[in-house]
Amino acid sequence: MNLHGKVALVTGAGRRVGQAIALALAERHTALAIHYRSSQSGAQETAARIIQQGGRAQIFKAELESVAEMETMVSRIVEAFGRIDILVNSASVFYRKPLEELTERDWDLNLATNLKAPFFLSKFAGLAMRRQGAGKIINIGDWAGIRPYNHYLPYTVSKAGLIGLTRALAKALAPQVQVNCIALGPVMPPEDYSPEEIEHLRKATLTKTLGSPGDVARAVLFLCEGTDFATGSTLLLDGGRLLN
Ligand SMILES: NC(=O)c1ccc[n+]([C@@H]2O[C@H](COP(=O)([O-])OP(=O)(O)OC[C@H]3O[C@@H](n4cnc5c(N)ncnc54)[C@H](OP(=O)(O)O)[C@@H]3O)[C@@H](O)[C@H]2O)c1
Repeated sequence: MNLHGKVALVTGAGRRVGQAIALALAERHTALAIHYRSSQSGAQETAARIIQQGGRAQIFKAELESVAEMETMVSRIVEAFGRIDILVNSASVFYRKPLEELTERDWDLNLATNLKAPFFLSKFAGLAMRRQGAGKIINIGDWAGIRPYNHYLPYTVSKAGLIGLTRALAKALAPQVQVNCIALGPVMPPEDYSPEEIEHLRKATLTKTLGSPGDVARAVLFLCEGTDFATGSTLLLDGGRLLN
């Protein structure tokens, strides 16, 4: 897909990995719908950077636990930009909790944000893409969706589900829309991790490095503009962490 003049929605784009993906798409002359929930100033800063560089961007607030808010957001994006061509599901929740302490709320929060939201956003945006004749959906997953982390049970189940969702959506939205997943290893450790914990993450990869948000952004660009032949696939972008 030629990205020039296209319109992309990136969730959780007010900060961290989502922000890097949004900025990279904007550099390819894609108009950006920047989704946020609480990071309003980060979303505004992302939009301002894009506009300063001559691009088009607008921010959209939505609680991803609410299907109604997601439907409204996609309608407002199509109203504002006239179309939607790319959806990147990057927003997620991620926190550690041992099995003994897990509650129904933990399960619901992880599954709603990390799996149900990507499904409904893909439904609303994907049907619009299908009507336009083309589109790309990229789900940001985790290698732990294949081999679960300890003490992150609902998160790892949600990311395993995201790989299945990617395959199911690729069939449901074919042939117009390609749907792929990028299963990440450590690219941006949680902000409360100690230097020792970060060092542990680095050493656990085969490459003995952390990835970067730039690595993720380049992989997203590849799946959007580098090929139209990949669909239903999961790209492991994990420094070999799964194999180690
Ligand atoms: N960082 C890594 O090294 C790494 C490793 C493996 C996989 N991943 C995956 O890569 C993606 C991006 O990672 P990240 O570290 O940048 O993510 P993050 O900082 O943990 O979260 C991204 C954003 O998700 C949004 N969010 C969370 N719950 C939401 C809800 N209920 N409604 C609306 N928005 C919600 C938040 O937006 P607001 O701030 O606006 O509230 C948050 O900024 C995630 O899918 C993650 O699972 C990351």
